[in-house]
Amino acid sequence: MKKLIACSIALLTWTLSPAQEIALAVKADEVKGKVSPRLWGVFFEDINFGADGGIYAELIKNRSFEFLEPLMGWKKLGQNLPEGSLLVLNRSSEKPSNPRFLRINKASADVMGLQNEGFRGMGIKKGLAYDFSVMYRQMKPGISLRVELVDTTGKVLGKGLLATEAGGKDWTKQQIRFTANEGCEQAQFRIWFEGEGEIDLDMISLFPTDTWKQRPGGFRADMVQLLADMKPSFVRFPGGCIVEGRDLANRYQWKKTVGPLEDRQLIINRWNTEFSHRPAPDYFQTFGLGFFEYFQLAEDVGAEALPILNCGMACQFNTGELVPLDELDPYIQDALDLIEFANGAVSTNWGRLRADMGHPEPFNLKLLGVGNENWGPQYVERFALFQEKLKARHPEIELIASAGPFSDGDLFEFLDKEFRELKADIIDEHYYRSPEWFLENATRYDDYDRNGPKIFAGEYAAHARTGDDGKRPNSWRAAIAEAAFLTGIERNADVVEMASYAPLFAHAEGWQWTPDLIWVDNLQAYGTPNYYVQKLYATNTGSEIVSITANGKVPTGESGIYASALRDDDHNLIIKIVNTGETEKFIPLSIESRGTFSEKASHWVLKAADLDEVNSFADPEAVAPQEQSMSFKRGKGQLKLAANSFHVLKFKAR
Ligand code: AHR
Repeated sequence: MKKLIACSIALLTWTLSPAQEIALAVKADEVKGKVSPRLWGVFFEDINFGADGGIYAELIKNRSFEFLEPLMGWKKLGQNLPEGSLLVLNRSSEKPSNPRFLRINKASADVMGLQNEGFRGMGIKKGLAYDFSVMYRQMKPGISLRVELVDTTGKVLGKGLLATEAGGKDWTKQQIRFTANEGCEQAQFRIWFEGEGEIDLDMISLFPTDTWKQRPGGFRADMVQLLADMKPSFVRFPGGCIVEGRDLANRYQWKKTVGPLEDRQLIINRWNTEFSHRPAPDYFQTFGLGFFEYFQLAEDVGAEALPILNCGMACQFNTGELVPLDELDPYIQDALDLIEFANGAVSTNWGRLRADMGHPEPFNLKLLGVGNENWGPQYVERFALFQEKLKARHPEIELIASAGPFSDGDLFEFLDKEFRELKADIIDEHYYRSPEWFLENATRYDDYDRNGPKIFAGEYAAHARTGDDGKRPNSWRAAIAEAAFLTGIERNADVVEMASYAPLFAHAEGWQWTPDLIWVDNLQAYGTPNYYVQKLYATNTGSEIVSITANGKVPTGESGIYASALRDDDHNLIIKIVNTGETEKFIPLSIESRGTFSEKASHWVLKAADLDEVNSFADPEAVAPQEQSMSFKRGKGQLKLAANSFHVLKFKAR
């Protein structure tokens, strides 16, 4: 973040001049409600190559040959090779979760290899060590594997030799480490087979060693760091529409995502075919990032885990397949087993698996979503069955019901009414709307029933018009509208329990959906202006909502000003102010309080030269918070708010 030492507040006379249309007044002891301690979180879905090809640092695409095209992503190297030198075998009855493997048959004179293109190439760093591993068995021992990373011209960046050790016919896993002497954003990987023999290969894998917490086979550290920096209070996973699947066969089934990697059954990613203008034929879910890893990720960033499970309905925008009510039990059992996996003693079946995977302590799951963007009476009756059975066994788990895909209208109204009658703990609302909608809806939650279910603003993003490149931009126009809207969430943080922007990640070469919070390529990751809005809210939260008014009224857009105020447990005061006006404003601010505050306050400002400004790989912090210091005397001061700017002020209690 850029640090600017400047004085943003001047002590001017305390009367309103014509340029000072309004004055802000905070009553720091007038507490309006408690702020949910889990207000700001993140929504993770494997969309836009967010998991495979994104945060999951595996560099090999189609490592187990289970894509629809078994050799997608691979190229055979060598000329005039005899028929049968490379075969794709399928042992579906022996290993239905991972049936395919390669058989390489090589005579000593043949020059033969395989090349993998990675996910839009491989990001390779100079001087970094890489772990190559493979499962193999030798039908006729004698083949070694010489591996190399090459750049786009074929120049070798780093190489290693895996001299096969196991000669038998049992599958074995072997690994070597080698270093890249040069870097490249679009590298590829080659395996040259040396010697003579017959060898079977599966789970061909290449990972960088600089993963998050240096975990072998882990996550891209730069991407996790951006999440950790937000200090999210929860991580919602695994989506999104991938929970539902285009059809039930391709729904997300958490049990198939845990245990040994080679047993995790790959499925097609629903975003592979969802948008005809952004086809992604090579998009699959390998589940290298599975439910264990999601729980671990949440724990790593200090967040609660919030899994969402399929409720017995496939995506209603696609097939809308339904599980008959009398066949719903296995789905409910999946939820019960998930609670055991997360929280159960190591003596239980699923608790033992968690321990075997390296986490004997419980993950302390407290929240569970049942269904994502489902709708209609069919959803309500399925949710009701989950609720009855889960609450009977686990009253401690709070259940989240979806209010469907839309922010209002018949589908929304119906579900909202039904889930209030069912006394759902939390209702998950989604809104992908225009920046104008966000500005106009800062009052959305002001009149929500305080005695009904809590609200989870589970997916939202301001969708500005589409750019020339077909993307809806992560522009300052969208981000400042969200900042204004979020003052309304903060002001109502007694009823809005949780909020998360969506989607989270997008790969610059592999996106399907825009806008997205964080953009990555093979080597870099940057936060959008929307990211910095989220981060400023999440890292400057409080425990009580206190009164802030503009000319005596709640500031929800009059003269372009939106504001909210919180107090934390130490009675520090945190004020958010958004000026959506086209002109700079000088606004008197008064704070009434029994206590006093230090005369210097910290002041973070987010602004841009123009509303269409975006961050980019070339300029990742074009729109990023700037820190200013500010002085304030005897409860009064004057704010200078640039046109289209977002401000976070923190007054320390003395
Ligand atoms: O965030 C992208 C998609 O938007 C999610 O998968 C879905 O829940 C919503 O429609």
